Amino acid sequence: ALCGVVALDGPSGTGKTTAARKLATQLGAGYLDTGAMYRVATLAVLRAGIDPADEDAVVALVRRTRIEVGTDPGAPSAFLDGAEVGAEIRTEDVNRAVSAVSAVPEIRELLVAEQRRVIREATGSGGGIVVDGRDIGTVVAPEAPLKVFLTASADVRARRRSAQDAAEGRQSSPDQAKASVQRRDHLDSTRATSPLRAADDAVLLDTSDLTIDEVITRLAELADGRG
Ligand code: C5P
Repeated sequence: ALCGVVALDGPSGTGKTTAARKLATQLGAGYLDTGAMYRVATLAVLRAGIDPADEDAVVALVRRTRIEVGTDPGAPSAFLDGAEVGAEIRTEDVNRAVSAVSAVPEIRELLVAEQRRVIREATGSGGGIVVDGRDIGTVVAPEAPLKVFLTASADVRARRRSAQDAAEGRQSSPDQAKASVQRRDHLDSTRATSPLRAADDAVLLDTSDLTIDEVITRLAELADGRG
């Protein structure tokens, strides 16, 4: 079984989340979806009718909101003040607002502290955890022995996103998905605090021409030290 942290970073539509969950299951490790935490914070902001651009109001609200994400790779779960919100955090409204909320330094400070707590809890007893995000290798867990940065071409990422939307019952055309994915990645890559970026010691993995099973096989080799 895996000991320690596997840091998986990259933009959306690279297969990161699916690969992270399956890898964690295969390795008998926990799984932390840090994007889900930023999504729960964003859902709270939208439900409260707060403008995502109003940083002070966003910070005040998130400070008094309980954000929890489960670590079982077989049963992902997310909670806002104790209520399950797994489906609500994947809507296009949340997609549109999440980059503004996650760019606020105080929000990142709050959520990174919680992410580190979850990682300590999982690894303290000699266990492992696969952590999926944008800044895991650079900021959240720079000590991780394995960091992988997943990439894929814009077209492939858009296609995967709209296939995922369709599978989960949301309407979106490939063009819409492409615009949405590109806009979010641009915002995430250009923000001042913890932008989306590969750590200097990350392994780069282009998933454009790989199936999800091939991605997982490659990740398992790397985690095994066979990379
Ligand atoms: O991974 P996912 O697409 O669910 O992430 C949603 C958003 O949360 C990202 O677009 C980004 O703005 C933010 N995020 C982040 N840092 C992370 C994970 C996600 O800023 N570690």
